[in-house]
Amino acid sequence: MRAKIIGVGSCVPEKVVTNHELTKTVDTSDEWIRTRTGIQERRLSDEATATSDLAIVAAERALAKANLSAQDLDLIIVGTTTPDTLFPSVACILQGKLSAVKAAAFDVSAACSGFNFALTTATQFIENGLYKNVLVIGADTLTKYVDWNDRGTCVLFGDGAGAVVLTASDDGSGVLASWLKAEGHLSDKLIMPGGGSRDPGQKNGRFITMDGKNVFKFATRVLEESILAVLKKANLETKDIDLLIPHQANSRIISHVVKKMDLPNEKVFVNLHKYGNTSAASIPIALDEAFAEGIIKAGDIVVLSGFGAGLTCGANIIKW
Ligand code: COA
Repeated sequence: MRAKIIGVGSCVPEKVVTNHELTKTVDTSDEWIRTRTGIQERRLSDEATATSDLAIVAAERALAKANLSAQDLDLIIVGTTTPDTLFPSVACILQGKLSAVKAAAFDVSAACSGFNFALTTATQFIENGLYKNVLVIGADTLTKYVDWNDRGTCVLFGDGAGAVVLTASDDGSGVLASWLKAEGHLSDKLIMPGGGSRDPGQKNGRFITMDGKNVFKFATRVLEESILAVLKKANLETKDIDLLIPHQANSRIISHVVKKMDLPNEKVFVNLHKYGNTSAASIPIALDEAFAEGIIKAGDIVVLSGFGAGLTCGANIIKW
């Protein structure tokens, strides 16, 4: 029994902020941001919009495509590090709002790797027969946690949510293999220091702190490592990949790995110019767009690979 994706949906806030607009408030330029990151614009949620508000729209869209109702769900897992509240989880908020009465619900905290960690977790529940229908979401509103005076981080992030509905299937398609990794010794390289139990009063600040160069080095190393690892687990080779959807953080990270692995550009999906780094949402948003554009066809081999704070990295390989 495999975990097969039968519906994909996404949601981004309406408000677009271009690189040019950022130059009005911070010492940066459109050229610097484009050439160093590939980002042209990002979406910002307003004060009244929390992570679950974006997640629920993505979830409803994915359920509609899957032709399932929320009452069919056995489990909801949300990958997020920007929950509405420290508790309850975003997954429980969604379970209540969707009236998914028989679904268990919990969040997974793996930052930008959150969607892959959540997808791998959901896959285990399906493969071992415990659950049939599982909703997996990646959703984040990191723009609420960036210092808009720190040009090293504020240009990078955007908000959004993406969702997939998984069902148990024995038709040969679905998640073929998964691979997850953590390098906790690098935990200080990308961190939200305030707001947790070590600093509930946020004396250490409430903004994302990042060592960009070290995160860059980690990302290029583990993106390749994760892709090769899931391919090996699935008994496949690089040439078998029909589409790679990497975490949409920085086009230089993606092109470095694509070049090293000798992957044709047309086999790599990139939409970060429109959204920036939407953290756990980036891969399912990209998956939704790739599917809507008709890029993914039945039988295709699709690799999803992401990296993020922790530092963490995770990949899943799917036969569509
Ligand atoms: N606009 C203009 N100049 C900027 C800038 C900005 N937004 N941000 C930094 N700079 C400046 C720096 O101050 C520095 O100036 P200096 O040479 O006078 O000191 C110069 O540009 C180079 O900065 P540096 O940090 O070396 O740039 P970089 O090439 O490493 O690129 C990142 C910075 C953040 C784009 C890059 O390190 C990166 O993408 N890292 C990974 C980040 C990431 O993906 N995080 C999320 C992981 S999920």
